Amino acid sequence: MSTSIARLCTPASRLRVAVLASGSGSNLQALLDTSMNDDCAFVVVVVVVNVAGAFALDRASSAGVEAVCVPHKGLDRAAHEQQILDVLAAHDVELVVLAGYMRVVTSTLLARFPRAVVNVHPALLPAFPGLHGAKQALDHGCRVAGCTVHLVDGGVDTGPILAQAAVPILCDDDEASLQRRIQVEEHRLLPRCVDDIAAGRVVVRDGRVRLLDRSS
Ligand code: GRF
Repeated sequence: MSTSIARLCTPASRLRVAVLASGSGSNLQALLDTSMNDDCAFVVVVVVVNVAGAFALDRASSAGVEAVCVPHKGLDRAAHEQQILDVLAAHDVELVVLAGYMRVVTSTLLARFPRAVVNVHPALLPAFPGLHGAKQALDHGCRVAGCTVHLVDGGVDTGPILAQAAVPILCDDDEASLQRRIQVEEHRLLPRCVDDIAAGRVVVRDGRVRLLDRSS
């Protein structure tokens, strides 16, 4: 069965995106910058963080986008996600992007956004899911690392792959230097994937993504 994962957009009705983050928010920044383009098919309508003081909050407010902190401390996962869902509902969100959101999302959120949660991960999945993808690749002696943008299906860094980019590992790389070069690719890929979804160019068939022609 194939499913188009977002309705076709017109410039007058850009897809309403929420970004969930926990830290610096450099991927959020890439999304905010792209959404300023006239021909962009999405708009970031709200940013949700789970960590008070996360720099992603500052990035959102500099861009004039509402930002909300929903701390997870003291809440079970379902209760925490329900509070996030309330924020998303208040902003008529259609697509959720996990951009450095350091929590595994559960069926509470995914049931409300089936095939409409996107994640960016700093490794070439299915290799090296979980924390420290760049370090895992270095420790393994890989010659190539990279990043993956994928739809979230309830596993840890699993789900249909939207796009990947490879980054060569240099002999003097450490985790920080490799992570920096991986992030350059993340900032290029993630906004492009969100724009493809928003423009109705992404179709999922049998768990695999097919990208319709960008020129069509
Ligand atoms: C990114 O490297 C992303 O792959 C991972 O967390 C990091 C977040 O970075 N999921 P930033 O907060 O977007 O700068």
